[in-house]
Amino acid sequence: MASVVTRIDPDRLYAPAKYILAGKGKRFRPHLVLSASASFDGDRHVALKAAAAVEVFHIFTLVHDDIMDRADTRRGRETIHLKWDEPTAILTGDYLFGKTIELLLAFPEPRLRQAISLLAETVRHLCEGQVRDMAFEERDDVTLEEYLVMIDQKTSALLECSLMLGGLSGSATEDDLANLKQIGHHLGRAFQIQDDLLDLIAESEQWGKPVGGDLMAAKKTWLLLNALAGSGEHSEWFERMLARGGARAEEINEARRRMEAMGIIESAREAVIFHSGEAMNLILTLPSGDGQDSLVALTQKMQQRLH
Ligand code: IPE
Ligand code: IPE
Ligand code: MG
Ligand code: MG
Ligand code: MG
Repeated sequence: MASVVTRIDPDRLYAPAKYILAGKGKRFRPHLVLSASASFDGDRHVALKAAAAVEVFHIFTLVHDDIMDRADTRRGRETIHLKWDEPTAILTGDYLFGKTIELLLAFPEPRLRQAISLLAETVRHLCEGQVRDMAFEERDDVTLEEYLVMIDQKTSALLECSLMLGGLSGSATEDDLANLKQIGHHLGRAFQIQDDLLDLIAESEQWGKPVGGDLMAAKKTWLLLNALAGSGEHSEWFERMLARGGARAEEINEARRRMEAMGIIESAREAVIFHSGEAMNLILTLPSGDGQDSLVALTQKMQQRLH
């Protein structure tokens, strides 16, 4: 991925850009582009550029997200704002955003116009989702419905965009694009609920960031909202933890045990299985072939992911 950056001067901009692009990510979004493209006989060159575009864009959002979340680690390594500084991280993100548009210019007209307008809409959704996510940290009355709107914007929007860009590189009609969008919607919900779950139960080395980080930051995740919605001793424990501004590192194991006792870990798994199942049903309506096969495989892999 780092090869998309060909410039070297000034080093203060291109070194962090190459550093973050070379990090170990799952590359889930580019795989969605390529699979959707294959489902609709997409142009290979355009699909590859679009695949690079969504990953570069995703990384841009992560670099800025880590500033907002004051995160120290990303993909198992120091975040840019720590390794360099905040202005450098902001500019690296901005540069990557510009690079995204440059890569999308591979689309021929009239698809180009659709691709750019899709990106613009995705950016709007992402910003709305990120603002909600941050605002939720300060509130103690967030509902599960509000949480779902937030994750639809901060996570599903880019998965929808990735699938639709794949469709746009080929023969997808308006109906096909709507179908791809719906697949992305369910994949996004499954992906983010799984992300919230893994944040508490993953193995720290695989996870690449501190396990329990969401609880320590008092993030209103699917797990925490369900814990607060309950009643009894366990829910009260989570309420007290929130009132103190979040969990301490030494409380994470206890939080996990309490979530297990409340059945929340199990119901998070069920929610992930439900939404990946919905995505799968829609994937099975796509034209059969390699593209469909790889979307089925990606959905299964996503459901079983450990990091
Ligand atoms: C992290 O995305 C941000 C979320 C939307 C949860 P990924 O979990 O896909 O991160 P990488 O790309 O594998 O690092
Ligand atoms: C990241 O959300 C979503 C975007 C970058 C838009 P999170 O803040 O939950 O992601 P992680 O947990 O840092 O990867
Ligand atoms: Mg965040
Ligand atoms: Mg974050
Ligand atoms: Mg997270």
